[in-house]
Order: sequence, then C-alpha cells, then structure tokens
Amino acid sequence: MKILVTGGAGFIGANFLNLLVPRHPEHTFVNADKLTYAANLASLADIAGAANYVFRRTDIADAAAVDALFDEQAPDIVIHFAAESHVDRSISGPREFVRTNIEGTFNLLEAARRIWKDGQGLFHHVSTDEVYGSLGAEGMFTEDTRYDPSSPYSASKAASDHLVRAYHRTFKLPVKLTNCSNNYGPLQFPEKLIPLMIMNAQDGKPLPVYGQGTNVRDWLYVQDHCEAIWTVVQRGAVGETYNIGGNNEVKNIDVVHGLCRVLAEETGRPAEALLGLITYVKDRPGHDLRYAIDATKIREHLGWSPKETFETGLRKTVRWYLDHHAWVDQVRTGEYRNWIEQNYDRR
Ligand code: NAD
Ligand code: TYD
Repeated sequence: MKILVTGGAGFIGANFLNLLVPRHPEHTFVNADKLTYAANLASLADIAGAANYVFRRTDIADAAAVDALFDEQAPDIVIHFAAESHVDRSISGPREFVRTNIEGTFNLLEAARRIWKDGQGLFHHVSTDEVYGSLGAEGMFTEDTRYDPSSPYSASKAASDHLVRAYHRTFKLPVKLTNCSNNYGPLQFPEKLIPLMIMNAQDGKPLPVYGQGTNVRDWLYVQDHCEAIWTVVQRGAVGETYNIGGNNEVKNIDVVHGLCRVLAEETGRPAEALLGLITYVKDRPGHDLRYAIDATKIREHLGWSPKETFETGLRKTVRWYLDHHAWVDQVRTGEYRNWIEQNYDRR
C-alpha cells in the first residue's frame, strides 16, 4: 500500500510515522508537509533514510500542488493530520486556519475523488473533540454530540469534518473520521500546555496558567492516539466516526502541579521552587471549560484502549524533554520566540 500522510512533520504525524514506518516495511509512507513553524524534520531523523519513507514538501492549500502530488504518488490511503492546530494562534490570526484546515482538506478530498474510482481508496480524517464545544461539569462527548465549536481552530476543524462526511454521502468517497482529546508526549511544539510548562520550568520562567486553572482536559498519550488511528484505518467501518480519549480528566492547575512534582523528582530540584513559578494570567477568550470523551465505540467495536496512564505518560514525557537537548534547543529559536513574545508579553 502507498499511504499518504499529511502533516507528518508535526507532533502527532511524526509520532505516527516513527511508530508505523519501521513496523510496516511492506507499506510506503509518503509524508506531505508544508513545514510550518510547527514542523520539525529533526523529529523524523530515525526514519528519514528508510526505504519505505518518502518526504514531499507540499502546501495542502495549494490545489495544483496537491493534484501534482496525487498524480505522482497515486496513494491508496490518505491519513490527514496536516492542520493549523493551536487555539491561541487561531484567535490572534484565524486566516491560516481557514486556508489550511478547510481549503486544504477540500483540496485533498477533490484530489482523492479524482484518482479513486468505484469505492477505491480510504481517506482517514484526523480531528479533534473541540468540534463539540464545551461541556459543563457533567457529561461526555459521544459520536452523536451536536457540533458547537468555540474557537476559529475548532470551527475550521468542524468545517473540515463536515466536508469529509459530505464527500462520503455525496460522492461515495470511502472515509473514516476520528475525533480525539488533548494529546501530550514527545515531539510536541512548546506552544501547547505540557511542553510549554516543562520548558519554562527548566528555564526558571513563569508558568502561565490561564484564568483560575480550573478548565479540564482529557489527556491522551500521543502513541495511544497513533495506535487508535491505525486501528481505525485497518478495522474501522467506512463512513464511521470514532471518538478517541484517555478517560483522563485533569484540571489544568493539577496538570501543572503534577509536572512540577515529576520534574522535581527527575531533576533533583526542589518542588517548591518550581511551584513558585506558577503565574495566573488573563484567560483565553471563549475558553472551553471542560472536554471529556466517551470512547465506548472504539473500545467495544475495535478493541482499542490506551496503554499509558496520565502518571506514566507524564513521566515519559518529562524524561523525553530532559533527554533531547538538541531538539529542545532547536525549537527555542525563531518563530517559537516570536510567538512567546506576542502571546505572553501582552497578557
Ligand atoms: P502540529 O501543529 O504539531 O502539526 C501540524 C503539521 O501540519 C505541521 O507539521 C505543519 O507543518 C503541517 N501543516 C500545517 N499547515 C500545512 C499545510 N498548509 N500544508 C501541509 N502541511 C501543513 O499539529 P498536531 O498536534 O500534530 O495535530 C495533528 C492533527 O491532529 C491536526 O489535524 C489536529 O487538529 C489533530 N488533533 C490534535 C490534537 C492535539 O492534542 N494536538 C488532538 C486531537 C486532534
Ligand atoms: P492547549 O495545550 O493550548 O490545548 P487546547 O487549547 O487545544 O485544549 O491548552 C490546554 C489547556 O491549558 C487549555 O485549557 C488552555 C490552558 N493553557 C494554559 O493555562 N496556559 C498556557 O500557557 C497554555 C498554552 C494553555
């Protein structure tokens, strides 16, 4: 099989390729990525030379480039990770989110529809639980929860989900969708909560908690997400959506406390000094209170369940950031710095 992975140089895509390329030498994996600020080819160093791995720098929002890629590679399967993925960036600059997440997905669907005839192919769309909006204190998102996105990011992902389903209903394109909760783990760009806190704590910088720190996210270790996607690609039903989550609801402030504790244990620094870096900052506009996934469908229909607990996953993640100085130093430069200034200096 020829498997086209979009956004394979980002956090989840790179974890996916690092897991699947060595495991499946019988498949060729083509990574099509624009290499935005969020991408890092260093994340793919272990597989860059593999005989079953190909990289093509591609902007999915460029329809001609997507068509040329499909003509050249003729993929059997598309696994679509590429996206602008950060909520705060979508608030300060939503345009790229519409361009990549909506127009980019549209271009891929059009190209797939052009080359796949009579039920050929599979388009797996990787999406988020944020399309469902915010939960109150009770309840969980199921696959039937009404879409109610809050941010330009989640609205653009919701639009892309609708396009994918429409191409299935209207043109019979074989599609599958997964909507997953918050991921954490190795290779995550430090604009997101967990790697940002690890890197700031290491540098003795403030740990900025939005609002009161009482918002709740359902955390899933990234490799568990990757295994879930591969499970759905292999055994999921065409036209179906599967929610993926860790059953791991944690308040943001408890995530930060947990990180300080693990960092103190792993580095020998006093936990009190790390906890003293916590700073409450202005809340995110439209900040969703709580996400929680009901993953019954993927568990019961496909037998998937997460392997990591939050405790084991957090420790692995902290260790990874402590052990990978070269990767960490690289992302400290350039765009990352501009973003930190833009986002935090104004709060
Ligand atoms: P990321 O921001 O780390 O990586 C995104 C990748 O997409 C980067 O390599 C970037 O270069 C690439 N990209 C961006 N615009 C592109 C374009 N126009 N053309 C080609 N490539 C482009 O994101 P991530 O956290 O790895 O998320 C991957 C996917 O998973 C996204 O679709 C996201 O919505 C979804 N998702 C993420 C999470 C999470 O917690 N991170 C949870 C659920 C779902
Ligand atoms: P984030 O990692 O941006 O993921 P998402 O917004 O997609 O859930 O944020 C996770 C939670 O952490 C969210 O409630 C916002 C909060 N947060 C902070 O409190 N401080 C920060 O510096 C960041 C980046 C996020």
